[in-house]
Amino acid sequence: MDAFYYKENTLCCEDVKINEIVSETGTPVYIYSKNAILSRFNELKTAFQEVDTTICFSVKSNSNLTICKILANEGSGFDVVSGGELFRALKAGGTPSKIVFAGVGKTDKEIQYALENDIFMFNVESIAELEHINAVAGNMTKTAKVALRINPDIDAKTHAKTTTGKKENKFGIDLIVAETIIEKAKSYKNVNVCGLHVHLGSPIYSVDPYVNALKKITVFIQKCRKTGIDIRYLNIGGGYCISYTGEEVIKPKDYSAQILPFVKEMQCQVITEPGRFIAGNSGILVTSVIYNKQNSHGKKFVICDAAMNDLLRPALYDAFHRIWPVNTNIAMPDIEAPDQCEVKQGMELVDIVGPVCESSDVFAKDRAIPPVNEGNLLAIFSAGAYGFSMSSSYNSRPRPCEILVDKDKYFVIRKRETYEDLIAGEDII
Ligand code: LLP
Repeated sequence: MDAFYYKENTLCCEDVKINEIVSETGTPVYIYSKNAILSRFNELKTAFQEVDTTICFSVKSNSNLTICKILANEGSGFDVVSGGELFRALKAGGTPSKIVFAGVGKTDKEIQYALENDIFMFNVESIAELEHINAVAGNMTKTAKVALRINPDIDAKTHAKTTTGKKENKFGIDLIVAETIIEKAKSYKNVNVCGLHVHLGSPIYSVDPYVNALKKITVFIQKCRKTGIDIRYLNIGGGYCISYTGEEVIKPKDYSAQILPFVKEMQCQVITEPGRFIAGNSGILVTSVIYNKQNSHGKKFVICDAAMNDLLRPALYDAFHRIWPVNTNIAMPDIEAPDQCEVKQGMELVDIVGPVCESSDVFAKDRAIPPVNEGNLLAIFSAGAYGFSMSSSYNSRPRPCEILVDKDKYFVIRKRETYEDLIAGEDII
């Protein structure tokens, strides 16, 4: 977590103290490091540089316009899953010919919007969708480039709710159905099947699932080519892991070392759709302690002003995020995993919770942290991906502001929502 570090007992992002930002913005606040975003994008780019690769940042992980613009300026394309995400990618200056569109339920309206903007290609998830794309493109006298999203029935060994490549998942097309599509692909006059796509889930902490999927897909590409369908693009999805605990995890070059031989053998151009890897550890959520509370059973709660509506991952997936005071003379342990939480001297075991009226509104259970008082700040780490983008205003809580740090400067890149924002668009009848 190099962009975020402690100096003189206080947390900094690049060359800015978190306290300084909070004194202006208040809490809760998302804070991102521009340098971290760029360096992760470039780490991935370097890992795949041996082959012709288009990196399409997965907009769902962090859809802030400034973040997307920074990546667009660096040459990134975008992976979108809705008309709204496409709108954002275009607003951020995304190059249409580098935008890929996935998702199991694209509507005709969304398909038309994407075709009007001449996106790179659709990642198609069913025969019905392919037929709709063919019809919409036909009405527009256009040809849509498509990749078939293959569901290879491979277990990515990640959380059940973020696994996408198993036969029971709604995503993609299994290989038997894909074969039937290939057989009649030429009859779709306004569709050009020129790619295959696979996304197995997220985060994936080993290369094996990618390799196992690519073994199946390589065989399938050969079949396609025999039928006269020239597969030129291989979209290997996203899913690259990050460390949430401080432990070492595999790196982009570990993935690419095993993925690239398949790509080279198939002589395909690569598309990849990283989200978490770029944004995850590039951002934190900072919250203030509202109250300390202890029940007669000895259980201690730290109640803070961020909640599950601001960062849903712990409530939805029991996800582990490191949490530590912004100002403390006790060093954050190098590694801290759910089963390795140690209560050292001067620390206490607490549940860190938000004010939302749900028992799942818990950021951390039985977590050892230095004692904190009302008004103290806590940093929730690894919150840059699937943090703000999954936020809501549940309990009518205005969503936090977002800040981008660039060296010794910081910028508000999304204002804090107001009560008026909460009711904008509502009419009393
Ligand atoms: N491509 C496709 C087709 C996807 O569905 C996703 C993520 C990605 C790429 C990007 O995956 P990444 O590189 O970020 O792992 N909300 C969950 C994660 C859901 C991911 C959904 N799809 C979380 O907070 O962990």
